[in-house]
Amino acid sequence: MPPRDREIQPPKRSPDQLNDPAQKKIATTPSLTGLAKLAENCKACDLWKRATQTVFGEGRPDSKVMFIGEVPGDREDRAGKPFVGPAGNLLDQALAEAGIDRSMVYVTNAVKHFNWEERGKRRIHKKPRATEIVACRPWLDAEISRLKPDVIVCLGATAAQALLGKDFRVTKHRGEFVESSLAPRVTATIHPSAILRAPDEAARHEEMERFVADLKKIAKAIRARGH
Ligand code: URA
Ligand code: SF4
Repeated sequence: MPPRDREIQPPKRSPDQLNDPAQKKIATTPSLTGLAKLAENCKACDLWKRATQTVFGEGRPDSKVMFIGEVPGDREDRAGKPFVGPAGNLLDQALAEAGIDRSMVYVTNAVKHFNWEERGKRRIHKKPRATEIVACRPWLDAEISRLKPDVIVCLGATAAQALLGKDFRVTKHRGEFVESSLAPRVTATIHPSAILRAPDEAARHEEMERFVADLKKIAKAIRARGH
């Protein structure tokens, strides 16, 4: 196995979350599909009120790789599936270029309900608050514990900082593998929507190339683990 670049422990969570009766239900639900069903009724933060539905993670339960984004967007909110809008299309394209089959990976978000603000007639994605990320964490932890992925890939700072700590800088540490109790290998790269926000075509192209290069490194790590 190649050496790990750094060692980081995930941030500690407050113990009172464990007293929540919903937590007990989560703990006694063994399957990912069971968890998804349970999450349909989650009201642990206010985001459910303005969203269409819970967007739970999706993928084969035997996937060895888990990708974690931030929060569902407008298209995901309507479809009830993660990464099916413009950022999802870019992710699909980059995965294909890196030789990773999306149908073989599990894709989810740090926060499961769409968070938005109105701009004209459009619903514009809004970054989730720290309290919302914490409230939604039991679902992410449950997904990780049921899937037991070999590799976790955080897409963007929200997922990376939730899993690897507030000091983790994607710009500095993208593509590095980190030792963690969450999975044998945890890494982070940019969020695909950062590519969409690139100021011009040349910058977009460059961002995409770097994103694909990170994913290729991940593909290599997956193959090194015999998958
Ligand atoms: N952005 C995310 O972080 N997740 C999605 O599912 C879609 C867009
Ligand atoms: Fe529950 Fe997460 Fe939705 Fe908040 S965002 S209501 S914690 S599923």
